Amino acid sequence: MEPREFFIEDRLERFRLEAFCNLGESGLSHFTMEEMLSLCGLTWKDLSQIPMNDAPNQGSFALRSAIANLYPGVNPDEVLVTTGTGEALYLAFHLLVAPGKKLALVWPAFQALYEIPRMLGADIIPVPYESAFQATTWQSIEADLYVINHPHNPTGQTFSSTEWESLLEQFRKRKKTVLFDEHYRFLPSGGGMGKTGVNPKQRFYGTGSFTKCFGVTGLRVGWLIADQEFIRRARSFKDYLTHTVNPISERIALGLLQGKEEFLPDIQKRVQNNIDHFTSVCMDLPKTKSFVPPKGGLVGWLELQKGISSEEYADKLFARTGVFVLPGSNFEMEGFLRIGFGEKEDRFQEGLRRWKECLDLI
Ligand SMILES: Cc1ncc(COP(=O)(O)O)c(C=O)c1O
Repeated sequence: MEPREFFIEDRLERFRLEAFCNLGESGLSHFTMEEMLSLCGLTWKDLSQIPMNDAPNQGSFALRSAIANLYPGVNPDEVLVTTGTGEALYLAFHLLVAPGKKLALVWPAFQALYEIPRMLGADIIPVPYESAFQATTWQSIEADLYVINHPHNPTGQTFSSTEWESLLEQFRKRKKTVLFDEHYRFLPSGGGMGKTGVNPKQRFYGTGSFTKCFGVTGLRVGWLIADQEFIRRARSFKDYLTHTVNPISERIALGLLQGKEEFLPDIQKRVQNNIDHFTSVCMDLPKTKSFVPPKGGLVGWLELQKGISSEEYADKLFARTGVFVLPGSNFEMEGFLRIGFGEKEDRFQEGLRRWKECLDLI
């Protein structure tokens, strides 16, 4: 059992540190350690006092409580702290998927959401993004597990409040098991906190993190939300993998969740400014066809004119301007580029200025 290559990773590894303007990443441009400590109200002295024993296997009670508070009706025993959302997904899929099971998800998708289930023998039902954000689309789809990544990577699309309520109602009535990957929930357009579908009592499980939305991906903290028995099994599985999250990351994660009301509005504003700027100039960029601004999260899906290879476009753009974008081919869908909106505003604007000048790019 082995998953295929993780298509986006090779390109991210090659370009993320070299790019002048990084629009390939799905996270906010990173803060330094010093900036991060000031966001979470910790000092170097506080860090130096952290006992370097193993953190509790399920995650510290304080951190699990802060995470549980993000979900109505969820208690700390229904939370497992993991090394990134990636580990939470890996554990959940191993407990939910078996050969021949059907898994439906919005297409295109973040590869881990279908590659791990595929490796485990699941049949994948791709639900095209053009119709996936209408609840009725899901009515006729029969699957054992539904994976709803919301806000959606790579398109940035979301369900309206009415569609969301009918989707949840429909899954409830049909007694379906759903896994909500809500990694980008901290950045809904319009501010505040994004919707959640998670409700462990109904087998509406959840994975999440704040690391991409807060610009601290290196912290590698995420979580799984499920009923206690499911969490017990996932924790036991995790004991063979990463075992625990290091206590420094746990302490910083707690501080960031406790302090988020202070710094999140500024991040949300910055991301929205980038989205607005991109929306105003994207049709002046070479050979672009259409763009629907994201309604949540940090990424959007730019359609190219017919017949253009997304990989060739991305390569030439990087070579000419230092602007790094991800080709749609990395999401197994030609004709698109994934654009990230987490770059610093001045670099974002300069990157677009350079991109716009390349009229003979392709
Ligand atoms: C939808 C989605 N889920 C999960 C992950 C994995 O997140 P992490 O870096 O926290 O492991 C990503 C990363 O880009 C993602 O986009």
